Amino acid sequence: MKPVILAPMSGFTHSPFRRLARKLGADWTWTELISAKMILTKGLDHPLLSFTEEERPLRLQLYDADPDDLFRAGELVLKHLHPDGLDLNAGCPAPKVTRLGAGAALLRDLSRLYEAACAIAEACKGHGIQPSVKFRLGWDKDHLEKITEALLKAGIKILVLHARLAKEGFSSRARWSRIKALKELVGQEVMVIGNGDVQSIRDISKLFQETGCDGVMIGRAALSRPWIFTEWKEGKILEFSLKDRIRLIKQLWKYFEAYDRARALKGLKVLVPRLLKGVHGRRYIVPWLLKSPDEMIFKERLARLQDEKRPFTADQ
Ligand SMILES: Cc1cc2nc3c(=O)[nH]c(=O)nc-3n(C[C@H](O)[C@H](O)[C@H](O)COP(=O)(O)O)c2cc1C
Repeated sequence: MKPVILAPMSGFTHSPFRRLARKLGADWTWTELISAKMILTKGLDHPLLSFTEEERPLRLQLYDADPDDLFRAGELVLKHLHPDGLDLNAGCPAPKVTRLGAGAALLRDLSRLYEAACAIAEACKGHGIQPSVKFRLGWDKDHLEKITEALLKAGIKILVLHARLAKEGFSSRARWSRIKALKELVGQEVMVIGNGDVQSIRDISKLFQETGCDGVMIGRAALSRPWIFTEWKEGKILEFSLKDRIRLIKQLWKYFEAYDRARALKGLKVLVPRLLKGVHGRRYIVPWLLKSPDEMIFKERLARLQDEKRPFTADQ
């Protein structure tokens, strides 16, 4: 069965959320982008680099402009952390990344993209894992064919295309026709993972059918409906009630056990508004939960919501 994958999303798809997504049926997970330089200066003992066995198959994503840093950081993580894959970020349009010449800025200079991709491919050699690159169609113009040529020449075996230009951010629709063009271009030897604007299991099916891609990656929709992976496995839409969602939040809280408390509460609070999207009374429930002054009260409030028999109203 072709994989349906949780996308990397900085600040959201940390180890606890990846565990939840795997439990709910995501076939693969992906770390958010991690600076190669940061790894080389600070070492491997960092929350961004921690993962559990349950998150496997997991691909670890690096960003940097310097091929030598990418190679050395790649070697280090492969040797000591043993992720199932190593990925190069060539799609992030955030100025703090592109200013360094990394992320989507690599798409402006294809010889540098080639060297960065070679560094990732070289690090993977000898570890028996396949290198991948996650990229966009181009910086401000679509150069898919030239980008692909550089990546194939570098020995990249898995191509993940978020089918927009870097300059577009998240505006306009992802152009799935370009995912189809990519699959036609690379043939069967190279895996193509399609990404962009998948909202439902109908979209997953459509993206597979329309493009012939080998995997589908889901980002934002998985933050508010991580059970989309279960829906895909079971082939039906699932209704998640308030109680069901509180159960997921409690599960996430458990996964945060290894984190320091402030970090855990912060991590959970960014996900709560998303996980409660669409529930009755959300506009009262979310602020009430998020304003919990400490962990104990937060847990009490979760328990209250789970026991709640009546619909939630403003006076609570
Ligand atoms: C908050 C946020 C953070 C993201 N962080 C990363 C990242 O660290 N690495 C990456 O390759 N893409 C990142 N992305 C892009 C997503 O992986 C994905 O390509 C994009 O959201 C399009 O997919 P979607 O329409 O299913 O959300 C991020 C997206 C969002 C919304």
